[in-house]
Amino acid sequence: MTGLFEALEPGGKDWLLAESIDSGRLPAHIAIIMDGNGRWAKRRRLPRAAGHRAGVEPVRMTVETCARLGIQALTLYAFSVENWKRPRLEVDTLWRLLRIYLRRELPDLMRNNIQLVAMGRLEALPAAAKRELDAVIAATSGNTGMRLNLAINYSGRAELADAMNSLVEEARGQGTLQQLRIDEEAIASKLYTAGLPDPDLLIRTSGEMRVSNFLLWQIAYAELYVTEKLWPDFDREDLLRALLEYQKRDRRFGGLGSAETLLEESPARVERWLEALGTTR
Ligand code: FPP
Repeated sequence: MTGLFEALEPGGKDWLLAESIDSGRLPAHIAIIMDGNGRWAKRRRLPRAAGHRAGVEPVRMTVETCARLGIQALTLYAFSVENWKRPRLEVDTLWRLLRIYLRRELPDLMRNNIQLVAMGRLEALPAAAKRELDAVIAATSGNTGMRLNLAINYSGRAELADAMNSLVEEARGQGTLQQLRIDEEAIASKLYTAGLPDPDLLIRTSGEMRVSNFLLWQIAYAELYVTEKLWPDFDREDLLRALLEYQKRDRRFGGLGSAETLLEESPARVERWLEALGTTR
């Protein structure tokens, strides 16, 4: 976390928030649904493209802040398979912005030791965007710091279908299709995020309470944080507040919280309750 303080104004608001964060309990993996660019533009009577353009700065801030915090992986939902349904001009703008972002950010990604990867059905990307993406992926492949995953032309359901098909194809190739049994570990090993911890924290901007086909498998136990802020307005303070809120949560993974585990219930007391309900053994 020391890297973060170097970028903050001593004693400023973000500095004070950062001081409250427990560096030992940071999420290993943060995933973000960057939503609200269109509404941001509409409120200003601007074209939707202007909202997407304004959304680039929070991307830069989030990537830099997470890298400085020492977060292991950051996954950003940049383009969903459903986004192709938008007007041609808007879709073209998103590809242009991606290319501009990649070209401009490469020096910063190198400086911050960030490895950029992309996940989704990337073969369908326009050639120029794909070229730029491949170049940055190759250039940053030796970086050992944070992994920045851009979800592009991504769909959680498609990812799961691809993973299952890959297991079937693999077994067919090995002649073991008849005995194939698919378990959770096998599925996880074929996801785009294989080898990464599942997201601990999923942030969504613009107040929508949906997961929108994002990382459906991986977010099984993620803590959800929804802010009313529209993505172009999402700033470092919002990110730090999300982390502080995350650290207040009692993560149970289907078990009991630490306090409840300590307060072991007496079997005799439970039995009395069950008797009262007429549910004795
Ligand atoms: C959702 O807002 C946002 C997107 C579909 C695209 C996200 C893209 C960016 C933040 C731009 C740059 C990204 C990178 C990685 C360089 P929306 O248009 O659905 O907003 P609305 O719900 O208000 O209409």
